[in-house]
Amino acid sequence: MAEPYMRVENIVKKFGPFIALNGVNLEVYPGEVHALLGDNGAGKSTLIKTLAGVHAPTSGQIYIEGQPANFRSPRDASNAGIGTVYQDLALNQLMSVTRNFFMGREITNAFGSMKMDEMDKIAHEEMLKIGIDFSDPTQAVGTMSGGQRQTLAIARAIHFGARVLILDEPTSALGQKQQMEVLKTIKRVRARGDIGIIFITHNEIHSKLVADRFTFLALGQVIGEGTKAELEGQDIRRLMAGGADIGQLEKEFAEL
Ligand SMILES: Nc1ncnc2c1ncn2[C@@H]1O[C@H](COP(=O)(O)OP(=O)(O)OP(=O)(O)O)[C@@H](O)[C@H]1O
Ligand SMILES: [Mg+2]
Repeated sequence: MAEPYMRVENIVKKFGPFIALNGVNLEVYPGEVHALLGDNGAGKSTLIKTLAGVHAPTSGQIYIEGQPANFRSPRDASNAGIGTVYQDLALNQLMSVTRNFFMGREITNAFGSMKMDEMDKIAHEEMLKIGIDFSDPTQAVGTMSGGQRQTLAIARAIHFGARVLILDEPTSALGQKQQMEVLKTIKRVRARGDIGIIFITHNEIHSKLVADRFTFLALGQVIGEGTKAELEGQDIRRLMAGGADIGQLEKEFAEL
């Protein structure tokens, strides 16, 4: 087994007296998809914001390749190889695919003008590698489908050095066909072997399709974790629902 690229040890995050994360451990291995699951308010977004340098943990430690890492800003986390794709994607719909791809990190010549041809070529190639042939990156992002936009944001994170790719509910706002496109993109990134993916989802089927490892959060605590094989035979839906017996609720429903 390879070493984890990132290890999270005993993370606690308090907002005033409220404990949003209470001793969370997590490991992310290269070439693996780690599904992060849990009901609304479980602490998933708070956890990834802590990993992405948005929140400082109240206590606990993040390790990158075995070394303690203390992120003071999202830029610190990004420099350490943590690439985050938030649900709103942070894309400008009116600007081109290429301009969005390079937003804030444009390639310029000695006079400071952007090298558009080179940037177009890179944007096209990087998206092609993970599955979309968006041949005209000069088009506005507004003309892309939701799935293509996810792929753009993912390709961008990879191009700028992500070794851990955090995806916050990448399939939740999409139709079924586009959901499959995004799952295919995740599978292609996984197949590279050098990037670990944290995949947040509320969708049990999606998590089982692409994830190798699972962590279930409820009220800021890990209530279940393991590889796919280790979780064999466990009630995944119950873990996803923070311990609620969904089978029993379905039975009650059927009996009404
Ligand atoms: N900035 C904040 N200040 C105070 N409380 C917060 C803050 N951010 C999150 N919380 C609280 O922490 C808890 C966990 O929230 P979080 O957004 O991490 O949940 P989540 O698992 O991402 O839920 P969802 O599935 O709805 O996105 C919630 O009770 C939330 O109200
Ligand atoms: Mg959330």
